[in-house]
Amino acid sequence: MSSTETTSGSRKALREAMAAGTAVEIDLQAVTKQYAGSAAPAVEEFSLTIPAGEIVVFVGPSGCGKTTTMRMINRLVRPTSGRVLIGGADAARMKTDDLRRRIGYVVQQAGLLPHLTVRQNIETVPRLLKWKSSRINARSSELFELVGLDEDEFADRFPRELSGGQQQRVGVARALAADPPILLMDEPFGALDPITRDRLQSELLKIQRRVRKTIVFVTHDIDEAIKLGDRVVVLKERSRIAQQGPPDEILAQPADRYVRSFIGGGAAVKRLHLVRVEDLDLEPYPAFTEPEGYDAIIAQLDERGYEYALLLDHHQRPQRWLHRDELQDRPGRPDLEGQAVQGVVMATTTLHDAMDEMLSSGTGVVPAVDDRGGYLGVVRLDQVIDALEGVHVTAVAEQEDATPVQTLAEITGELDARELRAAQKLLDDEQAARERTAPADAQAAQSEDESA
Ligand SMILES: Nc1ncnc2c1ncn2[C@@H]1O[C@H](COP(=O)(O)OP(=O)(O)OP(=O)(O)O)[C@@H](O)[C@H]1O
Ligand SMILES: [Mg+2]
Repeated sequence: MSSTETTSGSRKALREAMAAGTAVEIDLQAVTKQYAGSAAPAVEEFSLTIPAGEIVVFVGPSGCGKTTTMRMINRLVRPTSGRVLIGGADAARMKTDDLRRRIGYVVQQAGLLPHLTVRQNIETVPRLLKWKSSRINARSSELFELVGLDEDEFADRFPRELSGGQQQRVGVARALAADPPILLMDEPFGALDPITRDRLQSELLKIQRRVRKTIVFVTHDIDEAIKLGDRVVVLKERSRIAQQGPPDEILAQPADRYVRSFIGGGAAVKRLHLVRVEDLDLEPYPAFTEPEGYDAIIAQLDERGYEYALLLDHHQRPQRWLHRDELQDRPGRPDLEGQAVQGVVMATTTLHDAMDEMLSSGTGVVPAVDDRGGYLGVVRLDQVIDALEGVHVTAVAEQEDATPVQTLAEITGELDARELRAAQKLLDDEQAARERTAPADAQAAQSEDESA
């Protein structure tokens, strides 16, 4: 995906791309870092091309050189030898100030300046770049919206008055403030609880769909790497590349024992991180809103051979599952009949999270909704199981046309017993494997770099 206008090596073209925020390619060529006083190099002859507009994730154990490698891109660490090309131009010949302003940088615990308000933190780089205040104001509002923080509520608070997750959102907003073409993210979500981390990961993907930056992301969590990376680079000591490629390739064909052990158990379940609800053919389960006649919905059930219908509220949001018998009785209050919908998933939800949702609701089906919560169709557990077995998603869809699982009873009854148990076991195994392979200290003390 390298854009032709930025690989020409022309510094002018690069300056323009940088100014316009257009993603650029990063090319690391045999980059080595030997810290003064250390016996071995922290990074040895590291070569990698990072395509414009992609998320490339460095994953590897503590101390393997991830941070050092990343910091050589914005010259917070100066390479001992080798070259870093940004959009075809040698980073060593760019002004360091320019580089750091044009490359967004997000670190663990957000790295916000404690004595500045959220707004002042976000506006740091635009002010350094001497933007007009009207432009800065407009940009701030845009950023608050982008990272999902209410401007009125948060702008004038200090970082210590925010939760960890909120601080991290501010960190992302600050890094994106001047619309840089490159974003470097060093374990940005490492210190957050799993639920917040998961949410911020999904939001980062959503943001990336809109802004399309070249993102280098560092983590030692293979699950995070798989979820976020267009490409994953598995590193071992001295930042040597054990394997690099799209996440599904690494899961399906780990290059050696090192990579296999790093992936840990539950490779099959991890594949579910790679398929999203939108990749499936959603089952168009019969759904109705209250004012519609019961006869109409019963006719639809008859015609299509379903036993259950989904009651939607007047915003088309799924509310309850009602059985045909309950509909036949013409309930005065359908909102009190049947079984409440426990949870829903979005088009962008991964099948891993969809499976989680089905298991916690205990139904084996989950309605999918759009951004506003409006009903799109349902995902069934057997679709997830098929994806788990590596069946190609479109093949799954074809197969389902032939033999649809038609009723909620069938799904909650039959699948409850067999597949729900199998799926739960997979998640349990995955959790156990993760606990076994978790790094001893996720936040190992990080030495400050000489030039930082
Ligand atoms: N400023 C420094 N001076 C000397 N050695 C350093 C310096 N910074 C890092 N190192 C060493 O370089 C190696 C790589 O460190 P680096 O911080 O890049 O690893 P990392 O993969 O980011 O680790 P972590 O996952 O713990 O953050 C380590 O052995 C570390 O001790
Ligand atoms: Mg690090």
